Amino acid sequence: MQTRVLTGITTTGTPHLGNYVGAIRPAILASQRADVDAFYFMADYHALIKSDDPARIERSRLEIAATWLAGGLDPQRVTFYRQSDIPEIPELTWFLTCVTSKGLLNRAHAYKAAIDKNVEAGEDADAGVTAGLYMYPVLMAADILAFNANKVPVGRDQIQHIEMARDIAQRFNHIYGGDFFVLPEVVIEEQVATLPGLDGRKMSKSYDNTIPLFAGGAKHLRETIMRIVTDSRLPGEAKDPDSSSLFTIFRAFASEAETDAFRKALEDGIGWGEAKQVLYERIEADVAPMRERYDELIAKPQVIEEILQDGARKARATAAPLIATLRDAIGLRSGAALVQSGNQAKPAQKQGKLPRLVSFRDGDGSFRFRLFSADGEELLLSRSFADPKSAGVTQKRLKSLGAAAAVWQVRQGGMALEVDGEHIGDTPEYGDEPARDEALARLREALDQLAAQE
Ligand code: TRP
Repeated sequence: MQTRVLTGITTTGTPHLGNYVGAIRPAILASQRADVDAFYFMADYHALIKSDDPARIERSRLEIAATWLAGGLDPQRVTFYRQSDIPEIPELTWFLTCVTSKGLLNRAHAYKAAIDKNVEAGEDADAGVTAGLYMYPVLMAADILAFNANKVPVGRDQIQHIEMARDIAQRFNHIYGGDFFVLPEVVIEEQVATLPGLDGRKMSKSYDNTIPLFAGGAKHLRETIMRIVTDSRLPGEAKDPDSSSLFTIFRAFASEAETDAFRKALEDGIGWGEAKQVLYERIEADVAPMRERYDELIAKPQVIEEILQDGARKARATAAPLIATLRDAIGLRSGAALVQSGNQAKPAQKQGKLPRLVSFRDGDGSFRFRLFSADGEELLLSRSFADPKSAGVTQKRLKSLGAAAAVWQVRQGGMALEVDGEHIGDTPEYGDEPARDEALARLREALDQLAAQE
């Protein structure tokens, strides 16, 4: 069973060593695992929110595509594409926009930061804030949900966006009464190194302290490494590896044995100039073969273009059937079949207000479901099931159970449900006993409503 892993790369900059170590390299490694079905794409619609410089966007798209391919991404194995080549994404963005509450978007960190900055400066709160910035999280949700991704590896600053994608997915599933979307899980790679930049702060374009990955070639790489700030200890004086950026960067490229040797050299008093040369040579050993492929690719943009168009075809083959299902569900069914067969349209079934069971795939690959009340309140979260069949059997049992046959165990703030002596799931935590009793009443009602339907 494969996990679908999806991530986007905003195409505004030129990749640096920090991007390589922190995002590109781990993503390429993950894509080589047999249990991973990777979708990696260039978020060039998102780039428009940050930059209105066409040349920069175009250049960055090309450089980023070439970088990932040069880094070893296998486009046969991974679905690698540009967001703007997938018309299903903006289409889904609109469907999601119509179920997303404005209040949710008001709470987005990036939007709030822009507003706060304006207010602080005594400007109109919305000065210079585009609707694109405001809608950023919905577009991102569409990126993820169009492919029903299970896992989304991102930096910490993106966690809220994944949470919003889950909220939006859940709301859509609830309103239209189906398991249309898998709820995506955020993945934060804890063990991946964050590289320090030239000045010792986190390497970042916004601090202007980056070491380029390919740009400028080996010569420029060496020159930039020589500019890394060190303390003023002289050759012969012992250096402290653990407070040295040189050492941190070295370690991100080297084996354990090489790292130990470099540590010892620093402690033995190697001069900073010489240490920088060692660092440069270690990085260059990894980067040189990639740079060669990169230069070849950049010189042949048509090769990159073909790869990306192929990727777009693969991506659309996944997204298009889902969008067709969504269209049916929301009342935008295609009329083509009607015209062909001359059939009458079946009137859409009125969505009665009833409790619902919603299945989803958990982050660990197991299967679960939730019980929602008629007004959409979450009443119960099932335990994990190893396969969809056993989750389905339990759901069926629950549907015909009725309140009288349910056994509740009180646990801390919540309750556990047992059926035929088996633990089925748990309620959310409730603040106090009266709240829990009320929840129990709603649960009984929901179970009876379900049973009455069967
Ligand atoms: N917003 C992400 C970033 O700036 C890029 C991105 C766009 C993305 N769409 C995505 C990441 C979907 C993961 C999934 O890093």
